[in-house]
Amino acid sequence: MKPLHIISALTAAALSIYSCGEPQLDEKNIDRVIGRLTLEEKVRLLVGTCTDPANPPYPAPGTMTDRPYWQGNGENTYRAANRVQGSAGESFSIKRAGIPSLVYADGPAGLRIDPVRESCPETDFRCTAFPSASLLASTWNTETVHEVGEAIGNEVREFGVDILLAPGMNIKRNPLTGRNFEYYSEDPLLSGEMAAAVVDGIQSQGVGACIKHYAVNNQETYRNGIDAVVSEEALREIYLRGFEIAIRKSSPWTVMSSYNKVNGEYASESSRLLRDILRDEWGYKGFVMTDWWGADDPVAQMKAGNNLLMPGTPQQIEEIIAAVRNGELDEEVLDRNLKDILEVVIKSPSYRKYAYSNAPDKEKHRETARKAAAEGMVLLENRDMLPMSNTARIALFGNYSYDTQVGGSGSGYVHRTGKSNIYDGLENAGFILDSGLKNKYLSHIEKEKSLMPAENFWTIPIAQEMKLDRAAIEKAARENDAAILTLGRMSGEGADRHPGKGDYMLTDQETEMVRSICSAFSAKGKKTLVILNMGDAIDFGGWKEMPDAILMAWLPGQEGGNAAADIITGRKAPSGRLPMTMAASYADIPSSSDFGISPGETNRVLYKENLMVGYRYFTTSGKETAYPFGYGLSYTSFKYSDMICSKDDNGRISISFDVTNTGSAAGRETAQVYVRKPEIYGARPVRELCGFRKTSELAPGETETVRISLSYEDLKQWNTDDGCWAYPEQGYEFHAGASAEDIRLSCSL
Ligand code: GLC
Repeated sequence: MKPLHIISALTAAALSIYSCGEPQLDEKNIDRVIGRLTLEEKVRLLVGTCTDPANPPYPAPGTMTDRPYWQGNGENTYRAANRVQGSAGESFSIKRAGIPSLVYADGPAGLRIDPVRESCPETDFRCTAFPSASLLASTWNTETVHEVGEAIGNEVREFGVDILLAPGMNIKRNPLTGRNFEYYSEDPLLSGEMAAAVVDGIQSQGVGACIKHYAVNNQETYRNGIDAVVSEEALREIYLRGFEIAIRKSSPWTVMSSYNKVNGEYASESSRLLRDILRDEWGYKGFVMTDWWGADDPVAQMKAGNNLLMPGTPQQIEEIIAAVRNGELDEEVLDRNLKDILEVVIKSPSYRKYAYSNAPDKEKHRETARKAAAEGMVLLENRDMLPMSNTARIALFGNYSYDTQVGGSGSGYVHRTGKSNIYDGLENAGFILDSGLKNKYLSHIEKEKSLMPAENFWTIPIAQEMKLDRAAIEKAARENDAAILTLGRMSGEGADRHPGKGDYMLTDQETEMVRSICSAFSAKGKKTLVILNMGDAIDFGGWKEMPDAILMAWLPGQEGGNAAADIITGRKAPSGRLPMTMAASYADIPSSSDFGISPGETNRVLYKENLMVGYRYFTTSGKETAYPFGYGLSYTSFKYSDMICSKDDNGRISISFDVTNTGSAAGRETAQVYVRKPEIYGARPVRELCGFRKTSELAPGETETVRISLSYEDLKQWNTDDGCWAYPEQGYEFHAGASAEDIRLSCSL
């Protein structure tokens, strides 16, 4: 054997002796591995590597001098080389113990990593931008959402990421919340079921999900400092309930604590939220990470059971080590936090040394995105206009028709593989678009955007709406068969929307566009469709009667244009249903009086509406809405019949009823079941969603029996007298219907 081989053989032998002296992490020796780690090594595993690209690589473990690591390069910052460029963060590795670093990346609408990498220019790192959460929730279909989760999880795994920082699932307490596009619903059951489905889908690919932001994170204004003051009853039944359902149904590997305080305590420093409720009551197995740079007391976060501090700062390591050394923090707390993390690490692709391909099946995922997008669009009005033949000549108006927004800004952004705008989708479907209008809009948008910063995940440039003159509209009405106008709104992380014109309200220009286009076309017996491209509600006052059809397309992902065309042509029958109430006026919304406080005033946000959030308020107060929770049109109609409620010997409640397609087109109904619970501890909403089922596609005349089975756990209510859950055995009324305000059958137990 040549000398070189002898040396390499000896080295390998030495290493194996060295490492065989050290227990290498596996599912059976976690406690032993933890017991052999130094204090510094333990703390490094509880704090992220702060992958700040501006700083030189961080001294690898084992090369540490007695000085704190981050001073190795003379500056008080450090980073580990980004294993996956553009990921949101990484955890440290401790090689001698066989503990790998994990890679964490956003987000709820798909994987966000840098689309290009100098180190491998030939690889395309762009990912699929899936429909945003508002749209996914509008499918009311856990199978579809599971499929989207699988596709996202596959891209996470194949691009070398271990944990996806998704889904976001905070309750839509107010339509102006900047991140509502990436949250599901105003209802905890729908939120929890959607989150559980997407978590299962993601984790079926062998990577981890992260349900966020736990908890009561319902506004972006002053999000790091606000204190959400909420009753225990509303906390339990509304703001935590979705997380509880998601955890019980899908076991997410991780949870992200939220920036804000809850009743005076930072969520990430609250052992009540993170230990008593999350772990002791719900039996959560997994670990909790902070939101990025969340809160400011690492010792309190450790004590509270916030296992991992992300993205990690040198100061956090220093503070935790000092607290252990001065006796303020028991090292056993670190061991406990570390054990939860290592129990996840051993499931991760990095631990399993998964050889990822950097080549997920993006073509397949594009189809998944298109199918989900079509299923989640909600047809709000249809006065004998849709579906329409693709032989129609279309006058397509509105910037958002030509620059359709696929998702919101911030961490939930995706560097997508492509984009189908509304106009692309219509042309792909065979429609002839008015070329004069199309060229005007495209050049207007191009000129406007040439003066704006390039798009990136924090800022998405939106061109000023192009002005239209009456003559152009009249001309278009003469030369085309129908009009389509897309109105849009952008929103994102870090800021809330505002209630005025140009956001919640239409601008005068938009109102005038709707009015003049509708009147010009209807004067010629022609129809107008308005498409809405946004993450949550806008004001419908004064204009929703004008168009012949209104389609809520949400922020539909990169396949939005094709998906909208699928609905418009009838290739896909509309089956989306609203996951939140569209109020008749913003002022009608209970939280509108104090939403979005500014830091100068106070940091306390009083959730004084208690349980009366969304349809719970509107159905109880009887106040008119523009479109109710659960509402959506299809191209057919459905009849509900033969409702039966019964209780079986195991104490489960069975509800069944028939749904029949009474129209002339095929379609899917989303049958909803609401419950009126007995009022024992004070006034309660008259209607609370307790079950739902999307039928299969029913042919005209076809009937499907919907069966919902409930336990008393599903119907529990908070006992405000004794501060615990109550499970009343009787006094329930059940209502089956097509929306919160369209009840077709009732029965009582
Ligand atoms: C952000 C967001 C969180 C995201 C994280 C990492 O501030 O609040 O949702 O996952 O930081 O980007």
